[in-house]
Amino acid sequence: MAATQFFSVGLPEIDEEHQVLFDCLDAIVFALDTSYATSQGFAALEKLTDYSRTHFRVEECLMRVFDYPSLDEHKQQHAYFIEELEALRTKILTEDVSAAMVTFLTEWLRDHIRDIDLKYVEFFKQKGGPAFSQAA
Ligand SMILES: [Fe+2]
Ligand SMILES: [Fe+2]
Repeated sequence: MAATQFFSVGLPEIDEEHQVLFDCLDAIVFALDTSYATSQGFAALEKLTDYSRTHFRVEECLMRVFDYPSLDEHKQQHAYFIEELEALRTKILTEDVSAAMVTFLTEWLRDHIRDIDLKYVEFFKQKGGPAFSQAA
């Protein structure tokens, strides 16, 4: 299965973190096709949830440091994703999860990065914020 392609925001560390999130989502979908769906899917989802919390904290910290005006709105989006992951946790444990549910989260994350994360990156550029890959 091909790894999920993601949209680069131009900050290498953030891009790497996004790739880990997509790798976890891919691992959940892969697990669903195996006879170990519950244990493997659950492990991948636990990693995804932990890593998402860490990634979101990094983004929120950067936004706060740079006085990003849409921080609260962005945090609400992150909270929504974590809630969805927690709902999926229950579904995996009760073996009531489908690939479509994971695809929905993958598409949500892709849209979030392309439409919402990119806005703070543009804001940081204007502010002369964190170094960008093309400038490194
Ligand atoms: Fe992000
Ligand atoms: Fe974000």
